[in-house]
Amino acid sequence: MKSLKVALAERAYDIHIGRGLLDRGELLRAAIRGRQLLLLSNSTVAPLYAARIEAQLAGLAWRRFELPDGEAHKTLESAGKVFEALAALGAQRNACLIALGGGVVGDLGGFAAACWMRGIDFIQVPTTLLAMVDSSVGGKTAVNLPAGKNLVGAFWQPKLVLADTDTLSTLPPREYAAGLAEVVKYGAIGDADFLDWLERHAEALLARDPEVLAEAVHRSCAHKAAIVARDERETGERALLNFGHTYGHALETMGAYTRWLHGEAVAIGMVLAARLSAALGMAPAADAQRLAALLARFGLPTTRPADCAPQAIVELMRLDKKTLSDRLRLILWRGVGRAEIVDGVDPGEIAAALASG
Ligand code: NAD
Ligand code: GLY
Repeated sequence: MKSLKVALAERAYDIHIGRGLLDRGELLRAAIRGRQLLLLSNSTVAPLYAARIEAQLAGLAWRRFELPDGEAHKTLESAGKVFEALAALGAQRNACLIALGGGVVGDLGGFAAACWMRGIDFIQVPTTLLAMVDSSVGGKTAVNLPAGKNLVGAFWQPKLVLADTDTLSTLPPREYAAGLAEVVKYGAIGDADFLDWLERHAEALLARDPEVLAEAVHRSCAHKAAIVARDERETGERALLNFGHTYGHALETMGAYTRWLHGEAVAIGMVLAARLSAALGMAPAADAQRLAALLARFGLPTTRPADCAPQAIVELMRLDKKTLSDRLRLILWRGVGRAEIVDGVDPGEIAAALASG
């Protein structure tokens, strides 16, 4: 097992990564203060893994609550159902919620925990690669509204993150690759050595080699934990984690949230951001090609589809940033490992770079 800490002054917590952690009741118990516990999962993950967690809960008053699977259920209505399950448990202020699943269950569970009695403890047990390296760490919780994704939420840090890498063996290949996009992001934005390492271990990662996978999750979490510890509320450098995301969100919207998984849209977005950086003279074009080549090896898309017109992408990027000015703030880079927040990017230059590649 590999462990690290998110070093927030009053809300520090451990992240444990390794094989078979679902059966390590002592790790869970160390983070549970009271006697009441709600295990939140969904209809896909619960049949695979919930019983293993439940076997560790002897002596506690616990209930399981299962959501239907899918982003469509990350809603206020689902949160209401979680509140009803907490009420049925008689959950008091020292109750705990365990979120077992991908980012949808984690975001919703964290949100419900943040609201119940103005905040109860929660534990993230991520079962997708994306959730292990991104959504379970850092305390962003939210639900969606018809008006947009993640519009209602709270910063609410978990008490523990328990990432059992064995659970990834059942993850569909497309979901796994989407998680790899976020792993690549950490190398791209701040760690050229990590990107080299990912290139050298690409085959092992694709084969889901347990040792290599645990190392990739650990290094990714270490990057995120360090950034979150310095900038929990995203007043500055946490925004670097959005590399490729402004493009990605525009593409997700164009694809009605069904054409691409989030990580796939981010993969295209990172390459587009790297190409724009080259077009603006900030970074070598060869670095953009290198990034695209690695993402493509992981089976991820890396080019703007012909039916997504440059001007239409730019308009959606402006909406995503809710910008009132003519210019955009984007995360660009000076090359592998050197991302920057860039203010005042001209939409015309964005459109021109999109049209040329
Ligand atoms: P997801 O939670 O929908 O999981 C993807 C699919 O894999 C689902 O069908 C799920 O049931 C299934 N699944 C999960 N674990 C499995 C396993 N071990 N074996 C088999 N199937 C499994 O999607 P996701 O990509 O994990 O998360 C996406 C969500 O995360 C979005 O709502 C996004 O907004 C959010 N997110 C949040 C943050 C954050 O900082 N809070 C960061 C990134 C993304
Ligand atoms: N997923 C970006 C963040 O947590 O800030």
